[in-house]
Amino acid sequence: MIFPTFEDMKKIVTIIGARPQIIKAAAISRALKNEFEGKIQEVIVHTGQHYDANMSDVFFGELGIPKPNYNLNIGSGQHGGQTAGMLQGIEEILVKEAADLLLIYGDTNSTIAGSLAASKIHIPVAHIEAGLRSYNKSMPEEINRVLSDHVSSLLFCPTDSALVNLEKEGFELNRPIKNASIDHPGVYKSGDVMLDNTLYFTQLAEAKSELLERHGLKSGQFILSTCHRPSNTDDPTNINAIFNSLLKIAEESELKVVLPIHPRTQKCMDQHLSAELKRAIESSVKFIIIPPVSFLEMILLENHCKMIVTDSGGVQKEAFFLHKPCIVLREETEWVELVENGNAILTGPDELKIADAFEKLLDGNFTYPNYYGDGRASENICETLFEFMNK
Ligand code: UD1
Ligand code: UDP
Repeated sequence: MIFPTFEDMKKIVTIIGARPQIIKAAAISRALKNEFEGKIQEVIVHTGQHYDANMSDVFFGELGIPKPNYNLNIGSGQHGGQTAGMLQGIEEILVKEAADLLLIYGDTNSTIAGSLAASKIHIPVAHIEAGLRSYNKSMPEEINRVLSDHVSSLLFCPTDSALVNLEKEGFELNRPIKNASIDHPGVYKSGDVMLDNTLYFTQLAEAKSELLERHGLKSGQFILSTCHRPSNTDDPTNINAIFNSLLKIAEESELKVVLPIHPRTQKCMDQHLSAELKRAIESSVKFIIIPPVSFLEMILLENHCKMIVTDSGGVQKEAFFLHKPCIVLREETEWVELVENGNAILTGPDELKIADAFEKLLDGNFTYPNYYGDGRASENICETLFEFMNK
């Protein structure tokens, strides 16, 4: 029998940078290790977009993600400067590594930097979480995801609605993999890699139950909240409305509220919250603000809470995966099926709408259709990547 040598193996360069991408990469790295060892080599490039230990390092050990081969250490900045630094660094690595394919996740500045760098030097791009749309171009993510989709050769859609969005933009669906290219992209429904991760890690997360005890949180007796969208955090009116709503829920219902705080939001709270609201939050024993938690801790909190209030894309879906209702602190969502099916309610940063949604969701009956695949999205994606690179 002839075994492939290291030189025969096809090489993928994976771009990660922001917290959710690091977590998503765990699913693909796991599938590559379990089913494609010796067939596909993965080189991981961390742009350094997120860099605090609890926004980056914590995930590698906990989720078994290989240590990045490169860290560009770009850090925070304006969109232009941050993206430009990444673009330059990624291009150099792609040339040096003679990559066969670039893999990108989601819609962050690290995503667009990767897709532009690779497509301009004729390295095929594979986009995981393709086809999602908010149809709101004031969000930097909408620009990143639309542009990334349009320079990708392989587009992996987590949902049917993502496929429909791409079809509306003129993409042909389900082209044979061997014919896929940047000019004639292959668009496939893969399922959602975050469902794979949630299923894989939910039991393991129970080992973190000390976190519940430390904060006096009892199963089913607290609301979990996260908030980090600039439209909510950077606008003084909106951030005051959201934190006021959460404080009211904590003080006026039986439930506590726990909020692992994103560093952007921490800075904006310090800057924009009224002195009165700050004092009230600090003195409340039922509104608990904690530093960002690890993914296992987050899954534990999601699994034991009563309801989720969030503007996060990933957390909206995890609420559904773990059968929790969700208030979405946005005017629109890319995960439209959650709203259409009544599992989530869009409120934006509106106090009345948040209070109304809270009452409705407390008493709701919910169904959980199979929108996001069967928990094997990562394997599906890796099989397609393998076939594409060996065509
Ligand atoms: C980014 C993504 C967003 C994603 C989110 C996930 C873009 C345009 N936005 O938003 O799509 O939902 O990540 O969390 O790519 N900061 C720290 N430490 C860190 C990281 C950030 O202090 O480790 C602070 C800095 O002040 C920084 C701010 O947070 O300026 C925002 O970080 P940035 O990566 O620019 O955007 P996010 O809001 O995190
Ligand atoms: N998450 C986490 N710790 C936290 C908050 C979130 O591990 O303190 C996880 C969460 O479970 C989800 C992902 O981070 O998998 C979502 O990231 P985020 O909300 O930052 O970004 P988005 O999904 O909105 O792009």
